[in-house]
Amino acid sequence: MHQQREHFGSRFAVIMALAGSAVGLGNIWRFPYMVGRHGGGAFIIVYIVCSLLVSLPVFFAEGILGKSTRLNTLGAIKKVAPKWRWAGYMGILAAFVITSYYSVVGGWSLDYFIRSVSGGFKGLSMEASAGIFSRMTSSAWETLVSFFGFLLLSAMVVAAGVEKGIGRFSKLMMPLLFFMIVLIVVKSLSLPGAKQGMDYLLKPDFSKLDGPAIAAALGQSFFSLSLGVGCVLTYSSYMKSDGKIFQTGLWTALFDTIFALMAGFAIMPAVFSVEGLEPSAGPSLVYETLPVIFSQMGVLVPVIFFLAVLIAAFTSSISMYEVVVAWLVDEKKMPRPRAVLLVFVAAAALGTVCALVPAVFNACDFSTSNIFMTLGALIFVIIVGWCMPSHIARDTFDGKAWPVVHFLIKWIAPVAIAAIAVTNLL
Ligand code: PHE
Repeated sequence: MHQQREHFGSRFAVIMALAGSAVGLGNIWRFPYMVGRHGGGAFIIVYIVCSLLVSLPVFFAEGILGKSTRLNTLGAIKKVAPKWRWAGYMGILAAFVITSYYSVVGGWSLDYFIRSVSGGFKGLSMEASAGIFSRMTSSAWETLVSFFGFLLLSAMVVAAGVEKGIGRFSKLMMPLLFFMIVLIVVKSLSLPGAKQGMDYLLKPDFSKLDGPAIAAALGQSFFSLSLGVGCVLTYSSYMKSDGKIFQTGLWTALFDTIFALMAGFAIMPAVFSVEGLEPSAGPSLVYETLPVIFSQMGVLVPVIFFLAVLIAAFTSSISMYEVVVAWLVDEKKMPRPRAVLLVFVAAAALGTVCALVPAVFNACDFSTSNIFMTLGALIFVIIVGWCMPSHIARDTFDGKAWPVVHFLIKWIAPVAIAAIAVTNLL
């Protein structure tokens, strides 16, 4: 069975696929806002420390589990630590739930990309822009069409297979995405609000660094690196045996962090270039404010920006999709096309409810990013640090940094995650 398992064609493909999973909506609309709110440069420092000491060890633990077992999330856990198998089900369920609601937002980016290509943002005023967004989200028909379109595109890439679909697509799209965001940053930095935007992002304000800010930094870092639901585990199970977990993790985290900062540099100057506009969170910023400002900068700017948002969301969405498909293929012995179809039908059903009932959407978002991902991450480090024979973990990791990484996986990461989970509950 192991010989037949699919794999990525090269190390580059693995890194691009994992970077694709990591770089997503979390970088574009969550990171810049959180940085500004929790103390600018001070938050960035905490974010980087959390990523190095906690998130990267979780990434390595998932990588070790996937690469050593060559199995999906549930199969890997069952093999190494059968008593934690419920956590495998939890990860797959979480990946499924995220696929469903994330594709609703992905659908908005598809809608906005098409709108920008067809010149729909020309001469847009703030009121008109707010109107477009609220009409889109309140029109069941429009929301559902773009949601189904987005989900169908994801299904097609996943159905094409690990290397031919996910690998090839990521190798092509990630460099393009990077190039596009650089263009937008250059354009944005020429705006009158550039200085204020940069100050908002970078000026360190250590007085804002309280417990919740640190918990937010860790939570954001988990979400951004796609940890705790088995994405990294599943992709690593498709690494060839010469794949390097350490380098893959460092590159992915570096790419992800740079992209998040660049998204901030692209967005904040634009926001501050308009008098009286507050850098608010989430959808309203990306979908109401930016179309107005970017459309004043030429026809191409909104097209490039929304294509970037679309690609970023898309490569993340296929990674969650693959977590569920890998489980059906490995454990239920389903042919890939049938597994893809089944997930499509189920995600279409849950996504439809998310698209139509905001409370369900919020519940899906909250439970996955605040509970399932944190718990999943904790269990992955416990399994690798405490249940897996350490020589297997060491040989799979296959790098000089192992003693340090092992210590972080075994002690620092679990204690830090548990401490933050408790702080969040209080
Ligand atoms: N990392 C993605 C983002 O930043 C989100 C994601 C979460 C992807 C969990 C896969 C799994 O948007």
